[in-house]
This record gives sequence, C-alpha cells and structure tokens, in this order.
Amino acid sequence: MAKVFVLNGVNLGSLGERRPEVYGMETLQDIEEMMRSEFPDVVFEFRQTDHEGEFVGCIREAANSRGLILNPGAWSHYSYAIHDALEAVSVPKVEVHLSNIHSREEVWRHTSVISPVVDAVVAGMGVYGYRAAVGYIIAGTTG
Ligand code: DQA
Repeated sequence: MAKVFVLNGVNLGSLGERRPEVYGMETLQDIEEMMRSEFPDVVFEFRQTDHEGEFVGCIREAANSRGLILNPGAWSHYSYAIHDALEAVSVPKVEVHLSNIHSREEVWRHTSVISPVVDAVVAGMGVYGYRAAVGYIIAGTTG
C-alpha cells in the first residue's frame, strides 16, 4: 500500500482556533480523519511539530515513501534548512498552504524558499489543498 507522509509545521497544531477567518474551522484531527476516509487505500503518516529539527527528521523519514505533503507554516518563508532537507529527498513533494500566501497583506508571506525544491504548490484552497495533494501523488505522478 502507498505510504504518504503529511507533515505540518510550526503553529499548525492550533488550527481551528488560530485565525479561523484565514485558516478555517477545521482542526488537524479533522483534516486527518477526512483524508483517511477519502483515501482508504493510502497509509498516511501524519506528523505535526513546532521544532524545525524534528520536521527535518520527518522529511528524511519520508525518503522511501510514495510521497510527501507538507505545510511548514511560517518556516516556508525563511527555512533554508527545510529547503536543503527537501532537496535531498527525491519522492514527489507537494507544498500546501491553506491560505493564498500570495494575496495576503504581509509581503514576507509572498515568498516561499521551499517552492523551488517541491514538485507542486497548492495555496488558498483551504483543507481541500491537502486532498488535492494526495490525488496528485496517487494519480498525477503516475499519469
Ligand atoms: C500557512 C501560511 C503561512 O504564511 C503561515 O505562517 C502559516 C500557515 C498556510 O497554511 O496558509 O502558519 O502555511
């Protein structure tokens, strides 16, 4: 069975409470349940951490999986450590942002330093972005 890693980084653990007008009402638990029920044939490894080194370790763990979906939160905008870790892992990688980082007010959010080392980027689709990313990994990458 296909194993897909879903990594959520800093501050994503407070989804549901944190700025629901931007990130929605769903918690990470809700997202996990939604994905497990929608893709019963996929073995998901869901992880969330607020520690960058641990996040890098999770990226390495995904090296032999079917694919990696990641929302690094604010790290996306400045973490060259995550950039370098992703560069070293050759499975299909999808960067997901619940919000459209390009249309948000803060200019620093418009740049992602990890986008150059992933296969696809989804931003602004809310929780659907995670589901779209699984669809891409399971179907899109095999044609
Ligand atoms: C986010 C966007 C980031 O700018 C922010 O720091 C987050 C969440 C998103 O999912 O829209 O924590 O990655």
